[in-house]
Parts: sequence; structure tokens; C-alpha cells
Amino acid sequence: MKLRKISETVSFVGAVDWDRRLFDALVPLPHGTSYNAYYVEGSEKAALLDTVDPSMADTFFAYLAQRPRVDYIISHHAEQDHSGLIPETLRRFPNARVLTSAPGKNLLEAMLHLSPDSIQIVKDGDSLSLGGRTLRFVQTPWVHWPETFCTWYEEEKILFSCDFFASHLATSGLYASDDNRVLDAAKRYYAEIMMPYASIIRKNVEKVAALQPKLIAPSHGPLHDHPDEIVETWRRWTDPAPGREVIIAYVSMHGSTRSMVDRLCNGLSDRGVTFQRFDLTTADIGQLAMSLLDASTLVLATPLVLNSAHPVVLHAAALINALKPKLQRAVVIGSFGWNAKPLEQAPTWMPDLKLDWLPPLSCRGLPRAADNEAIDRLVGDIASKHTAATA
Ligand SMILES: Cc1cc2nc3c(=O)[nH]c(=O)nc-3n(C[C@H](O)[C@H](O)[C@H](O)COP(=O)(O)O)c2cc1C
Ligand SMILES: [Fe+2]
Ligand SMILES: [Fe+2]
Repeated sequence: MKLRKISETVSFVGAVDWDRRLFDALVPLPHGTSYNAYYVEGSEKAALLDTVDPSMADTFFAYLAQRPRVDYIISHHAEQDHSGLIPETLRRFPNARVLTSAPGKNLLEAMLHLSPDSIQIVKDGDSLSLGGRTLRFVQTPWVHWPETFCTWYEEEKILFSCDFFASHLATSGLYASDDNRVLDAAKRYYAEIMMPYASIIRKNVEKVAALQPKLIAPSHGPLHDHPDEIVETWRRWTDPAPGREVIIAYVSMHGSTRSMVDRLCNGLSDRGVTFQRFDLTTADIGQLAMSLLDASTLVLATPLVLNSAHPVVLHAAALINALKPKLQRAVVIGSFGWNAKPLEQAPTWMPDLKLDWLPPLSCRGLPRAADNEAIDRLVGDIASKHTAATA
């Protein structure tokens, strides 16, 4: 396995994980991922930028074995998919110092039991000379943990951005321009992991865009060799203006709620309102998260189960609440057997979202003509709001 050169002084020493299908025990990875670590050498010193997930230690150390020295380990992010092999790297290169942000030091000590003596704190704007080569640290807190920062390689105009601008995508090539799936994978990554921090990230997008990088080298997925495209895309995703679509997320045990959903979808189609429909028993929650970036209305559709919504809907609601999407309004609809009142609790399922809640719409058992008319009125209501927004 040859070292993968990015330039005369920069090598890729990461690992491509083609087989991984779940991240953070939650996030589906339909196309695998990679853990990107980089090695930068000047005339005097060499720095390792992050490590990889401990599951890929063999690949990582096979690359590192081809390099004679590690003087610095720059740890942009304490999450273990990047920091997990720092302890073993320190055992192999005992003279190396770990450089990280102040909150990063705290987290590395907690997550990996690193000795405080091995860690040196770097601040925004600090620089590190490797001998004719300069790395400068750019703090970007809360992209997506409190300690996250980037490294700017001055002479070569490379931004090492860690999870910022990352995508979960396993590829044989190194560069985004070789793979047209990258923006979709980046959207999934942004939606699942970064969306709750959109307003902070928006400022940090401008902070790093001002550097005018020639290359953005993230910690997952291909390197952005045309950085303007990914920067512009992140600008769009972090824009606070709501999307235009309707999301319908539903569950139905015996088909009654599904019948309501079918009527609603047909009505929205007839009115030309764009929607995305998810059966939550089989939905890829990453796709659901991605759809939230483009939506302004959420319809939760659920039968009554044990005096509440179906647990799968409650799970989705908890996730949507945590992702803090730029939704404007929501409504819950569903079928019940004997008591629909718990549907009135729907706003408490997503307590952190400021939403305009339309009145719940329920029907007993299978919908009858009067229920269908009520659904048609809801369609009209949603359609008029969407038409007004796009006018
Ligand atoms: C396990 C289970 C629990 C239920 N709990 C309630 C309930 O607490 N309140 C209620 O009104 N109906 C309850 N029902 C009845 C369903 O809400 C009703 O059958 C509904 O029409 C099912 O809609 P679906 O066909 O979309 O699954 C329950 C049904 C099941 C199977
Ligand atoms: Fe992370
Ligand atoms: Fe990561």
C-alpha cells in the first residue's frame, strides 16, 4: 500500500471503510465512509492531522510506517473516529505532542485518558512552523462539537476542515471532482450531523471561505478540489429561509392512517405541491433528515397506540426536534379506535421547534366521506400556504 501523495509535502494517511453501514449507532451509511488523516512535512518537523477510526488501525499504521517521524498530532475533533488512535500513535512516536483547542484538551482527556502533559493548547490564529511550511489554526467551535477547529496550510492554501464539509462516501479516488455522488453524500452528512448548528456554521463558512482555499481536505469523503462548489452549497443549506416542500412521515398498522395519507398525497399532487413521503417503518432516517432541508411543512401521520402516537413516530419526532430544521408549520393526522385526544399533545413531541401547529385531524377506523372531506380541506390549507410562500 503506497503512501497517497496530495502534494510534495502532504500525504493522505487515512482509511476508506467500504463496508460500514451505520454511524454513531444511528446514521445509515449507504455508501460507506472514509476516515481521512493527513501527514504534512516541512524541512524540520512533521505533523499528523488527526488519526482514523480504531477499526481501521492496520491501514493507518501501514501508512505511518512509511514516514520516519511525527512531531505533532493535530487533533481537530475529539470524536473517536478521528482521535481514537492518538494513544497508540503516541506509543509509537513518544516524542510527539498533541495540539488541540482548549475544549479539545478537556475532551481528549475524558474520551481517551490522554495525559494532560502530552497536550498543548492552540488558539485561533496561532501558527506552527514545520520548517519553511506553516500551519495556522482556525477555530470553528460547534461544527459540530464544542472543540472543533480547522488547520490552514498557508503555503499551499489547503484547508484541513475535519468534519466541516465532510461526506460519508467511500471512493477509490481522492477527489470530489471524480465522483458525482459527493454532493448528495455531503447533504446527508450535513443534514444528519450539522443541521442543529446551522446559524453558527453559517458564520464559520464565511470565516474559512475568506481564506480562499485551493483545496478543502475534510475528515470523511473525497477532498474538494473545486472548493467553491461545496462552500456555496453549505451557504445554501445554512440559509435560514425555509424550504418549499411538504414532508409526510407516517406509520400505519392496518391501513387506515395510510388511507388518510394517500388522500392527502393525491390532493397535494393535484395542487402541484411538492412533497416527500416516508413510511417510518422502513424509511432511511438520513433521507428524512435530508428532506428537512427543503421543507416548510411537516405532516406526522400516526394511529393511536397505547394512548399516544405510534412509538416509531415518537422516535422520528424526537429526531426532528433535535435536528432543529427550518420548518414553519406542522400537523398531526391519524386513525384511532376509541380516543384521539392524545394527538393534541403533538407539539410536546417536538418542544424545541417554534411551529405553527394546524389543528389535529383524526378519523375513527377507516376514513369515511366526511373524513376525506376534512383531509381535502387540510390539503387546501397547506396548498394555499405554500402557494402564498412561493408567489
Ligand atoms: C397495539 C395497539 C394499541 C392501540 N391503542 C389505542 C389507543 O390507545 N387509543 C385508541 O384510540 N386506539 C388505539 N388502538 C386502535 C388503533 O388506533 C386503531 O385500530 C386505528 O384505526 C389503527 O390505524 P391504522 O390502520 O392506521 O394502523 C390501538 C391499536 C393497537 C393495535
Ligand atoms: Fe464528528
Ligand atoms: Fe467524523
